[in-house]
Amino acid sequence: MALLQKVVGTIFLYVLTKAIYLIYLHPLSKYSGPKSWILSRIPYLVYMNSGKLPFRIKELHDTYGSVVRVSGDELSINDPQAWRDIYNRRDMLRPSQWGGRPPGVEAHSLISAPAADHARFRKALNPAFSEKATREYEPVVRAYIEKLLSRLDVAATKGPVDIVEWANFTTFDIISEITWSKSYGCLDKATGHAFMGVLLHFQAFLVAASIKYFPWLDRLLAVITPKSAFRLLEDIFQDTHERLHARSMIKEPSHADLVGHLKLHQEQAADADKFREAEIEQNILTVIVGGSETLTTAISGAFHHLLASPRVLSKLVHEIRSSFAKEAHIDTNALSKLPYLNAVIDETLRLCPPFPDMLRRQVPASGAIIAGHAIPSHTTVSVSCYSMFKSASYFSDPDSFLPERWIDGRDGAEAREAFHPFALGPHNCLGQPLARMEMRLMITLILWRYDVGISKGDSLRKWDEQKIYWTWEKQPLLVGLSNVDA
Ligand code: HEM
Ligand SMILES: *[C@@H]1O[C@H](CO)[C@@H](O)[C@H](O)[C@H]1NC(C)=O
Repeated sequence: MALLQKVVGTIFLYVLTKAIYLIYLHPLSKYSGPKSWILSRIPYLVYMNSGKLPFRIKELHDTYGSVVRVSGDELSINDPQAWRDIYNRRDMLRPSQWGGRPPGVEAHSLISAPAADHARFRKALNPAFSEKATREYEPVVRAYIEKLLSRLDVAATKGPVDIVEWANFTTFDIISEITWSKSYGCLDKATGHAFMGVLLHFQAFLVAASIKYFPWLDRLLAVITPKSAFRLLEDIFQDTHERLHARSMIKEPSHADLVGHLKLHQEQAADADKFREAEIEQNILTVIVGGSETLTTAISGAFHHLLASPRVLSKLVHEIRSSFAKEAHIDTNALSKLPYLNAVIDETLRLCPPFPDMLRRQVPASGAIIAGHAIPSHTTVSVSCYSMFKSASYFSDPDSFLPERWIDGRDGAEAREAFHPFALGPHNCLGQPLARMEMRLMITLILWRYDVGISKGDSLRKWDEQKIYWTWEKQPLLVGLSNVDA
């Protein structure tokens, strides 16, 4: 009995001392946040795994101000200056929970790589997604959107279509065709791609990352998990391997593709800059994942808000239809100059950022000055797009879908500095030009060809009622399409 008392007493004392340390003495103790979050990771992880973390963090900023201590060792920073201070630095990498490699994989990808490997990868990949290279993909993008439209022509006669699903098929076909000149065929089959579904099981990734916050649990699971649990992952790598092999058999592909760019790189680069075979595979998978579901979110978000705001929709339709004499004249160069279209796209990325949060970084051993605060080493820091883009400090009427704000400058220069939906710095979005091209073309060509509307009896839910697991968990968005020429 006496022993038990001693043990309980010791544990109690330990917990108490640790709590006092975390709240009063820890180097981050001057930053406020909910006490239960500071004392334990658990509330944070519970919110994250129930798809509500970005919403909660926004509320915390509203309560506690621009710097919130969201965990013992983590700050969320809602200040435009933090974008530059965090993301422009090469030595701010993802914390270990978020930058790991899949089990059994040795090769790094852009996501997991240490700074030097990451720089080597970007040097090879940037030319394949530059503005110039992206222009060469336009015919491919166009062809798949034409295919989408011909599928919609048929589907729409039977009733409303789920724009989320169709956008998803299209973005997958485009990114796979651009990668290795062979699409996943989602539009043809009108089904998703099973393998990719595994990589896109974002909820599972969040659970895996959560476990890594408890290293003893992580080690335990690594020991007891049967090898077969990783079979699906191995299938994906095998599939990737086979597709790369099939591509290598094509001497003269019909259009420029990523593998072609990488082949050129491998021939011309100094030995130290070359990719290893396994690194190519991991990076290709990163590009495919990064370049598909994100765009599905953006396109679904655009149609959601257009349908919710008939005024904006008719203004955009007018701009599109009055700018071109016929469909064949539409191209991305011309579309990049349409002010309202591009404002609608930015406004969509503001309210439906494909990465609402998840841009966490770890402060290096030397510490960092972020938005004027001296932040100690090993702190996890991030800017949450969702909090920043909906902040009343930077955007007037922040919850309203008002594309005009990007044209009339009502929010001032700080709004531009707060708004980085593609992040910035060495880890920014590799595919921004491609993403803008796909958004412009897909939105425009759909609105050129169809009058769109919510079908009678259906009503739109609020976009923010959807959960967020890494990206938005998109509910079907049923849209009635009637062909303008019919
Ligand atoms: C509207 C669509 C898109 C948005 C809003 C978006 C946004 C972002 C953001 C915020 C990041 C930084 C992530 C981080 O720091 O953790 C990122 C990274 C990345 N994106 Fe995109 N993205 C989009 C579409 C695309 C497309 C079409 C591609 C295809 C090439 C792509 C490929 C990537 C890759 C490979 C990375 C990792 C870059 C690195 O770590 O060096 N993204 N994206
Ligand atoms: C998009 O397609 C992928 C695979 O084809 C699938 O895993 C994912 O769930 C789809 N997303 C939506 C929102 O339909």
